Amino acid sequence: MVKSAADEATPELFDTIVNLCKRRGIVFPSAEIYGGFRSTYDYGPIGVLMLRNVKNEWWRTMVQRRRDVVGLDAAILSPPQVWEASGHLANFTDPLVDCKNCGSRHREDKLDDPEVCPTCGERGQFTEPRQFNLMFKTHAGPVEGSGHEVYLRPETAQGMFVNFGSVQYASRKKPPFGIAQIGKSFRNEITPGNFVFRTREFEQMEMEFFVPPAEAEEWYGYWCEQRMQWYLDLGMSPDKIRLRAHGADELSHYSSGTSDVEYLFPWGWDELEGIANRGDFDLTQHSNHSGNKLDYFDQATNERYTPHVIEPAAGATRTMMAFLMDAYDEEELNDGKDSRVVLRLHHRLAPYQVAVLPLSKKPELSGVAGEVFDLVSGAHMCDYDETQNIGKRYRRQDEIGTPFCVTVDFDTLEDRAVTVRERDSMAQERVAIDQLPGYLAERLA
Ligand code: GAP
Repeated sequence: MVKSAADEATPELFDTIVNLCKRRGIVFPSAEIYGGFRSTYDYGPIGVLMLRNVKNEWWRTMVQRRRDVVGLDAAILSPPQVWEASGHLANFTDPLVDCKNCGSRHREDKLDDPEVCPTCGERGQFTEPRQFNLMFKTHAGPVEGSGHEVYLRPETAQGMFVNFGSVQYASRKKPPFGIAQIGKSFRNEITPGNFVFRTREFEQMEMEFFVPPAEAEEWYGYWCEQRMQWYLDLGMSPDKIRLRAHGADELSHYSSGTSDVEYLFPWGWDELEGIANRGDFDLTQHSNHSGNKLDYFDQATNERYTPHVIEPAAGATRTMMAFLMDAYDEEELNDGKDSRVVLRLHHRLAPYQVAVLPLSKKPELSGVAGEVFDLVSGAHMCDYDETQNIGKRYRRQDEIGTPFCVTVDFDTLEDRAVTVRERDSMAQERVAIDQLPGYLAERLA
């Protein structure tokens, strides 16, 4: 029997991950002492490390290791003209319906049955749908009202389009080349939910790749393939990730072709990243609205043209959650008498790469353990933990995915060696302290 996505979905994993995130300080509701704040989340001491690793890996692949992509960090606040030109003021809307019986609000296009309220179960109580714009609007300076409106960007992409001319000129790149950016975006989602999957404040990792028009289709295929490979290279299960091409009715107002990288979340297949062939829509719109020509003159062919754009657009916070879910494992030990939770994260994504664990709190061990921490922490993110017994400390590190634990024991005082324990195999090896940096560098490259 061929299994459907719903058969394979694992709803119980969702609560497990939310609880783990809360318990271990990975992600927790924002302003919780005031009861939380409308689906916003804070990233705690461990979450901030992992989120940073996800973004670093994206930047390493998309900018650092490429000769044809440069970076950008554009402003979050932007004037209405940008969103007028991009089409967001007119088109970035969701259809909103209110239930007249219970007052709950829903996105009409996400209802299982367009007649039935999922909150109270009443049929036929919805208002007519209203188009609700998802952008957050505020005002700049002390005066409110027309002429002072500003928007929090709902995507990082427009920063790359409005700066196309300056970046191209300054970097002396010629198409095909890309501009990449990681940063916060804001959408007044009607129905945020599924933990950090859909929030009103989130982080995006987007790259706009500007190409000669005739090469657009080829580059679109190239980026679909590259982006799938990124997730696989970082250890995502191949049977839980897929590329799905959008049907004509799903395409955004700017897109002539889009494919989603989808992950099998606990509730079923859902979007991780979109790769879109945006044509010349964005540069043409901003040229027309601003009066500044955003095009490229190719000296080799003596031709002036508006580059087409291929855009891989991913969510950093959503991607981190997918990697967390994918890495979660409960392993039976000692013929089922014992068990452990282990996050089998790729070592580049793990919050800590190394944990230094003195066997006891005795000052002579703390002294050497401090030395080991100083020796290793310049190259790797290190935790230092001297509380509770060593077995419990190993479990705590397994639960947050630390690839290597380094234990300093009483023999260390004699032989200047430490015990290194590997997370997945739990194999232990004795390593001389002066060999430790090389040992770890080889395995954490
Ligand atoms: N520039 C194109 C663009 O923004 P998108 O599909 O709307 O495309 C790209 O967003 C990615 O940003 C999504 O695939 C998703 O990972 C992430 N994203 C979008 N809305 C989000 C939200 N409300 N919460 C968390 N992540 C979100």
